[in-house]
Amino acid sequence: MEKNSKRRLEKTSARKVVRIPAGKKSVVLGVTGSIAAYKSAELASLLVKQGHEVFVVMTLDATEFISPLTLQTLSKNPVTTSFYDEKENWRPGHIDLADRANLLLIAPATAHIIAELAHGLAGHPLAAIALATRAPILIAPAMNGKMWQHHATQENVEKLKARGVEFIGPEEGMLACGYEGIGRLWKVNDIAFRAEFLLARQENLIA
Ligand SMILES: Cc1cc2nc3c(=O)[nH]c(=O)nc-3n(C[C@H](O)[C@H](O)[C@H](O)COP(=O)(O)O)c2cc1C
Repeated sequence: MEKNSKRRLEKTSARKVVRIPAGKKSVVLGVTGSIAAYKSAELASLLVKQGHEVFVVMTLDATEFISPLTLQTLSKNPVTTSFYDEKENWRPGHIDLADRANLLLIAPATAHIIAELAHGLAGHPLAAIALATRAPILIAPAMNGKMWQHHATQENVEKLKARGVEFIGPEEGMLACGYEGIGRLWKVNDIAFRAEFLLARQENLIA
């Protein structure tokens, strides 16, 4: 077989392995104030390509790292950044999103949002959705290694895991803060793959 056609075949079959179709689902993609927030653009795009409705909810800090316009364009839906964006409906938008979510995926998740979720705070739409939804929650943390390994963060992670929240990553590598170690956002393709698995599993449980 020619080198080029062999490579094409490998590419095609790799794409086939990644795809576990779950049917069209609603994914609420939470984005928080990490330097890795730019990677949420690719994640939103992958989830849309996987056939899902994607609703991005950003913290105020996240908007310092990536523009809501980028995520709105890639997700093909309005982006929520504040409780007061919600003027269209009699029903609060964050409750609507919490109810229609088949998955709440927070990527990247800061130490701050993890602490908020562990303590049940609801000071902004993303935290409120995490309290109000009964959908599975998948969290992909990204932060400085010392922040990740701090007892406070680890206790918060354990608390959330005990409540059924799933974590993916972080991984080891070169961190944006200049250190090398654990704290990098997990590979975006693998996060999308895990999201797809959780959505497909839900469908099988319902069927
Ligand atoms: C350049 C820069 C990069 C940051 N990266 C991270 C990060 O990767 N992880 C993290 O937990 N916090 C990071 N922070 C700190 C958070 O932005 C800060 O804790 C913020 O309050 C998080 O708010 P949020 O969780 O509501 O988005 C960073 C701050 C700056 C200025």
